[in-house]
Amino acid sequence: MDRFLVEGGHKLKGTVKISGSKNACLPILVASLLTDDKFVLHRVPNLRDVRTTLKILTALGKKVSYENGTVTICADGKLKNTLPYELVKQMRASFWVAGPLLARFKSAEIPLPGGCALGARPVDIHLKGFERLGATCKTERGNVILSAKELRPAKITLRFPSVGATQNLMMCAALIPGETVLENVAKEPEIDDVSAVLCEMGAEVFNDGKGRLIIRGKKQLHGTEHTVVADRIESGSYMLAAAAARGDVRVENCVPEHNSILLDLLQEAGVPLEIGVDFVHIKPYDSPLKPQRIKTAPYPGFATDLQAPWMTLMTLAGGASEVDEDIFENRFMHAPELVRMGAEILTEKSIARINGVKQLSGAHVMASDLRGGFALLMAGLCASGTTEIERVYHIDRGYENPEGKLNAIGAKITRYNPDKDDF
Ligand code: EPZ
Repeated sequence: MDRFLVEGGHKLKGTVKISGSKNACLPILVASLLTDDKFVLHRVPNLRDVRTTLKILTALGKKVSYENGTVTICADGKLKNTLPYELVKQMRASFWVAGPLLARFKSAEIPLPGGCALGARPVDIHLKGFERLGATCKTERGNVILSAKELRPAKITLRFPSVGATQNLMMCAALIPGETVLENVAKEPEIDDVSAVLCEMGAEVFNDGKGRLIIRGKKQLHGTEHTVVADRIESGSYMLAAAAARGDVRVENCVPEHNSILLDLLQEAGVPLEIGVDFVHIKPYDSPLKPQRIKTAPYPGFATDLQAPWMTLMTLAGGASEVDEDIFENRFMHAPELVRMGAEILTEKSIARINGVKQLSGAHVMASDLRGGFALLMAGLCASGTTEIERVYHIDRGYENPEGKLNAIGAKITRYNPDKDDF
């Protein structure tokens, strides 16, 4: 398995170009199941999770090609409506296929996604929504079995604004003629991108201004050609890496307003930055970082996916800060690894208390999830000496060519595989 060797202390200066959003392109690729027409998606990042999703679409009977960031999906005979466990266990988002398959076949059998490092991650909100649309859901031998005589539009209130459940239900409702109303939905920008695609395919999807998502479904949907929105978690991650390393970095091809709460916090912490239409320029600074308190929340609150990279920044602040992880029950796995690099962090339930230190020191650490892995990479950039990061495959799930993008602005990161490279 690949590792990163990170030589710390190099000045970061230059431009990082942001890729298309992982968390938008995964559901949008799945939306191609709603039609037999040709479906083209541009600005698809070359990530492990994207390749897994393309394998899932192929396993379901689609013909898929992926070249220079463009995915082309065509029908290739009859679609299947069951998915092998092998693929689902690799990526929880594979459960998103349930909505489109239920809508097309009125039945689907999908392995229940297990928990992951972040926690149990149940899918009860998805299943309750499918039941409201007229399906029966049962779980047998680790599989969710969905079936419906007929599906009908419904008014569904989500008990929590789950991103995945919102997307799954939107896609199912897009093929149910009539008006489905989803209340207490997720408002992440990725949801807007999925809405735009469903509208391009012939459904009517819009916000009624009272936080409700209205989906007027159609009997049949047609293909489309779409370009994925910029990845706000990748852009936020590089802004934090630049701030932690006190570099001079322009993060380009992003949507600054998708990171507005992070930008406010960076400015409150004393990081000088310039905000453009499609870029944010993080500027060098000498003054001590002012510690901040954050609590993760559904969008537009502080993104849980940026909590780990944010924590790395706070390990270098001039004082005590606090992080309250309110979305996932186990999303502090990067903390003990940062402590091994000299950070002072105490975690208790959903709270992490951090005492800033002057400098981190390089160590041999292990990534446990994609955002925590990036947090360790950030720490390695700022630490004295060399940091070796194991299980880089976690980082590859959510960041396209991270060492390439960082080495292009002055970092010294080497990717190697101890089983293969005689390093
Ligand atoms: C999406 O996951 C993202 N993944 C996650 O990004 C992100 O952290 C998360 O949204 C929150 O923003 C993709 O988009 C592929 P949720 P999702 O349903 O949809 C609980 C990354 O780093 N819940 O909003 O699975 C759940 O356990 C990944 O890119 C239920 O209890 O997140 C969690 O505590 C990690 N029942 C909370 O809600 C349900 O039926 C938020 O989950 C569904 C969710």
